[in-house]
Amino acid sequence: MKNLWKIFLPAIVLLLSCDPANNMKLSYDWDVDPIFRDNCIACHGNGKNSSASLDLTSYENLMKGDSDSGPVVVPKYPEQSLLIDKIASEFPIIGSRMPINLPPLSDEEIRIIDVWIYRGAKDN
Ligand code: HEC
Repeated sequence: MKNLWKIFLPAIVLLLSCDPANNMKLSYDWDVDPIFRDNCIACHGNGKNSSASLDLTSYENLMKGDSDSGPVVVPKYPEQSLLIDKIASEFPIIGSRMPINLPPLSDEEIRIIDVWIYRGAKDN
């Protein structure tokens, strides 16, 4: 029993190293922005005329915090970030799941954005 950790520790290390987002160096430009470009900016790419006044074409616009519901990213706190609620919940606290009327983002895409916010939502 005392040596049980010898079995569990390698298993945990293996599990963690299998999760790409854990080791991945995530950046806004290379990882987050392409997800918005492919899935969101058709509706969220027109400045203040974007849906819900949320423009997702740049880091500055994403972080501005002046869309209809206020800030959508709370750095370090994905669980408090409306952005995550809107892509990950079937029934978000306001409105519909994003992208509206389209298949949800993949688990991997959601995880990339989640981990990026958890690590501080930095512009690099
Ligand atoms: C087909 C158009 C469309 C697409 C594509 C779309 N959205 Fe939206 N989005 C809307 C509309 C309309 C609203 C306002 C209604 C609502 O919240 O459900 C909205 C609201 C939001 C809000 C709430 C903003 C606020 O301040 O209330 C967030 C966050 C959001 N979208 C994120 C995204 C993300 C991230 C994507 C891509 C994964 C995306 N949207 C794709 C149309 C779209």
